[in-house]
This record gives sequence, C-alpha cells and structure tokens, in this order.
Amino acid sequence: MRELIEAWSGEAVVVRRDAPTGAWCFIALHDSTLGMPVGGCRMKTYDSPEDGLRDAMRLAEGMTYKWAALDFPFGGGKAVLAVPGSLPDEHRSGLLQRFARFVDSLGGAFATGVDLGTTPEDMRRMARDCRFIMGQAAPGEADDSVDPGPYTALGVLTGMQVALRHRVGRDGLQGVRVAIQGVGDVGAPLAQMLSRSGACLIVADVDDERARALGGELGAEAVSADDVYDVECDVFAPCAVGAILNEETIPRLRCRVVAGSANNQLDNDADAERLHDRGVLYAPDYIINAGGALAFGLIHQRVRSKAVLEDRVRRIGDTLDQILSEAGSSGESPWHAARQVAERVLAKGRSAASLRP
Ligand code: PHE
Repeated sequence: MRELIEAWSGEAVVVRRDAPTGAWCFIALHDSTLGMPVGGCRMKTYDSPEDGLRDAMRLAEGMTYKWAALDFPFGGGKAVLAVPGSLPDEHRSGLLQRFARFVDSLGGAFATGVDLGTTPEDMRRMARDCRFIMGQAAPGEADDSVDPGPYTALGVLTGMQVALRHRVGRDGLQGVRVAIQGVGDVGAPLAQMLSRSGACLIVADVDDERARALGGELGAEAVSADDVYDVECDVFAPCAVGAILNEETIPRLRCRVVAGSANNQLDNDADAERLHDRGVLYAPDYIINAGGALAFGLIHQRVRSKAVLEDRVRRIGDTLDQILSEAGSSGESPWHAARQVAERVLAKGRSAASLRP
C-alpha cells in the first residue's frame, strides 16, 4: 500500500478497516483544486485490499477530470468498500452505517453517493448518519434518493449520437447496431432509450440471465459476456467494470465507435492510441458518463426540475462535440483532447486559488 500511495498523484488516502465485517474502506482524495472532493461509494470484492486501494485511487483521479470537464466546482475523490465476499444483509447495513458515520466525521473533506455495488436505498439510509451524501432531498422535502443511472444513460446516449456524427457522418440512431456490455443500473436504461430510438441492440452481462431477460423484453440479441468484444457493430458500449479496453480486447473489436458509461475503460493511456490507430473513435468515459455526477451536483445546488436536469445532461453532447472537433483538427486522440480541456479548467482553478489571500 505504501508503494501505491507513493506512486500516486493524489492528495490523501483515508483508510479504515471495519473489523466486524473484515472490510477495508478506502477514501481516495485526488484533487481539491475546484472544490470538495466528491465521488461515488463502490462496494466490491477484490483479490486483495491493495487492489481495492488501487481502484479507489484510479477512480478518484477519473472524478477529478470528470468534474473539471464539466467545469463544476467539485474535486475528485472516491470511496471503495472492499468486502471479503457478499455480506449477509445485517452485516452489510452495519458496515454502511459505520462508514456513513465515519464520512460524516470527516466534516466535509469528502462527499459520496451511489456507485457500483451500492443502491439509492443504501444512500437514503446513510444520509440519516451523514451530511455528505449526494442525491438526497433537502431537509423538509419529500423523502427520496435519486438514482443517477438514467441521467448517466441519457448523457451516454447523447454522446453516442455526437460520436457517430463525427465518425460516420450520420444523425440519429435508427438502425444503428449497438453492443452493450453490462445491463445494470446504467446499461439497462441505456438499452431502453436506444431501443426507443430505433437502434438494433446486442446485450451481454456477466449475469447471462439478466442479459437474456432484457434481450427478450426489447427484442435484442443476447451474447455471452466474453463474446461481446467480437460483435460486429457500429458502437460498442462498455457499461460494466473498468480496464476492459486493453491490448487483448482492442484487436478484437469490430466497431467504429466506443461509447459507454463504465469508469476507467482504458487499461492505460496507450490504449487510447491503440483505438485511434485502429480507426475506432473513443468517446472518453469521463466526458460521456458524467450525467449522473452532473445531476447530483445540480441537485446539491438545489436544482429540482427533472426537465432542467435532463437539459443540462444533454449538453454533455456539446462538450464532446468540442473535444472531437479539437481532436479532428489536431489529429490527436479524443482522449488527449479531453484531457486538455480538463487540464485547462484545473489550471484556471489553480491560478484563481493562488490569487486568494
Ligand atoms: N457513481 C457515479 C459516477 O461515478 C455518480 C456519482 C457521482 C456518485 C458523484 C457520487 C458522486 O459518476
């Protein structure tokens, strides 16, 4: 763990071991230039606690760029609860309650919300013990906990259309073939939206039954979780875990666009060049999957209207359009262009901070 932390570019790591469940809780605080670090709370089983820490650090860094590209006044952070296997209900809720109290005790150094492995209902409960949970109704308002999944899906859908316009010069999704990897909290609503737009879908999930059920409902073909890389399609949409675009999988892809919701889709930066060299347009993950985060940020700023939230999320398409145009004229990869957009916002934030007394 010492090696991981020394090699990391972030600001702080908070570690808490939860003795009753054997879980390791990591909070990675990557960059607070733009504001309070905010990022989801992931619950997952890893091969080792170190893998959990590594994931937290990488995801926190992704959040820094996500907020920066949105030009939103939050910093990058992420929580990972590395659990030793699936927990019985009462152990799980005990862990979440202790973790909620712990995050509250940090007094605003970090705020969190739902992510892979946690649910809006978990967050609603955590919010009783913690003031720093995103997506909750303000005191006095009707009790509800927002599911960011559909907002994330809407941003991905919008980004996918922009990417297709750039890569193949077509507008609209009618008849476009899209292969979705992972039909969970974002992949499923994305599939519904695509289906309504007339796209032709291929779905896959580590839970085969889940893919088959959704496929049946939408008249989509279901393929196995491994076969999805080989599907001939216009768009490949990774909506599950990270690092799935790598040296092994990229040569297998038979798509023209990669546009999905998973965080950290690239195994490493060289994979952006690999995709670019193969003529695959990669819509950078933290640009097009920012819809849920943006909705949470706006709710935090007291925006309540669903129509306003959706309208703001759709503007992610304009950001991507700008990035793809910059990439197009410089010949660089979209990944590179996205990073420059985010770095410009961070540099502005740093110089503003240096002027403060
Ligand atoms: N988990 C989502 C993401 O990674 C949404 C989220 C954003 C959750 C910010 C909490 C805080 O973008």
